[in-house]
Amino acid sequence: LAKAVQFSEYGSPAVLNFVDIELPPLKRDEIRFRVIAAPVNRGDIEIRSGSRKIKGKEPFPCIPGLEAVGQITECGAGVHGIKVGDYVITMMQKLGGIHGEIPGSHQEFVTVNVYAVAKLLDNHAPLDAVALGLTSVTALNGITRLGLHKNETVLITGASGGVGSAAVQIAKAMNFKVIATTTSSSKIGYLNSLGADRIINTEEQPISEQIESGKVDGVLDTVGKKTFADCVRTLKKGGKLCSVGASSGANIELLAWELMREVILTGYSSEDLSGDKLRADLGQLLEWHGSGRITTPKYECMPLSEAIRAHELIESNAHTGRILLTPDAR
Ligand SMILES: NC(=O)c1ccc[n+]([C@@H]2O[C@H](COP(=O)([O-])OP(=O)(O)OC[C@H]3O[C@@H](n4cnc5c(N)ncnc54)[C@H](OP(=O)(O)O)[C@@H]3O)[C@@H](O)[C@H]2O)c1
Repeated sequence: LAKAVQFSEYGSPAVLNFVDIELPPLKRDEIRFRVIAAPVNRGDIEIRSGSRKIKGKEPFPCIPGLEAVGQITECGAGVHGIKVGDYVITMMQKLGGIHGEIPGSHQEFVTVNVYAVAKLLDNHAPLDAVALGLTSVTALNGITRLGLHKNETVLITGASGGVGSAAVQIAKAMNFKVIATTTSSSKIGYLNSLGADRIINTEEQPISEQIESGKVDGVLDTVGKKTFADCVRTLKKGGKLCSVGASSGANIELLAWELMREVILTGYSSEDLSGDKLRADLGQLLEWHGSGRITTPKYECMPLSEAIRAHELIESNAHTGRILLTPDAR
């Protein structure tokens, strides 16, 4: 038996249970690894609360968790190039998400197809790799889609969050100017430490009163509903907005007049991440990390048995940085 976080109905963090589960036999091409750490993402909160419903026919019981790092304990038939004892990281590719096909990562052991993992090299610390993880891969893809040039300006919303804070560092590593938004004056120091060139508190004044329309080359939007229309308004002619999240709600409103100019709206979802892309993106991020161009995001470890507290902290926006669940000591 192994320990896992599980829920059997949508609702508040209290629907999460800490249970014993049986591990299934390994199928061909599958590996099993003992989890070292598995982050809690905003997506886990959105799925548990029911604001994003699991698509599978029989969604419950559901083990949440979209990513994890760990050490391989078992390899199924057909697995080559990777062995017991290797450190690996995996994310998305139907793991624990809205597809409801593969049990998620908030458990002691994760079982996945070998093509869904990236092997860590000896110089990659597992906690650094997983703290970069899904949020950094999303930020990298979102920022890259903006097609910006050196010294151009990017507006990043929800910049203190997991995706936003990674995006600030990645944008600086790519030599862009960064305007970062937050709703909380207590997070301004953190955004300064990440290297943001300008910080806007959207609770004090809306973006439209702090940035003239048509001044920004690109926008990476993680907030959605609350700031979307203002973000579109800030774009220059030819500017691009990439939507990667909707922390404030997904139901956006936009005046058609805002689109009667040359702006480009696009987006990125890590649901489309393949094993090859995971390995390429993580390789890039770990290289920047190794050369000091980006640092490990701030993170805190909590035992799996405290998943409720982790969900509460993220849901209340009281937390900066990432929360990594780690198996409880046996
Ligand atoms: N496209 C993808 O593949 C992908 C991957 C990962 C995540 N996501 C999505 O991206 C979004 C952000 O994820 P995350 O991991 O960065 O979440 P997070 O760590 O919880 O951060 C979200 C940030 O947004 C701000 N925020 C939250 N609620 C807000 C509200 N009502 N109004 C304005 N700002 C608000 C908060 O910053 P302040 O307190 O500083 O204002 C918070 O720190 C989520 O919707 C998530 O599902 C998408």
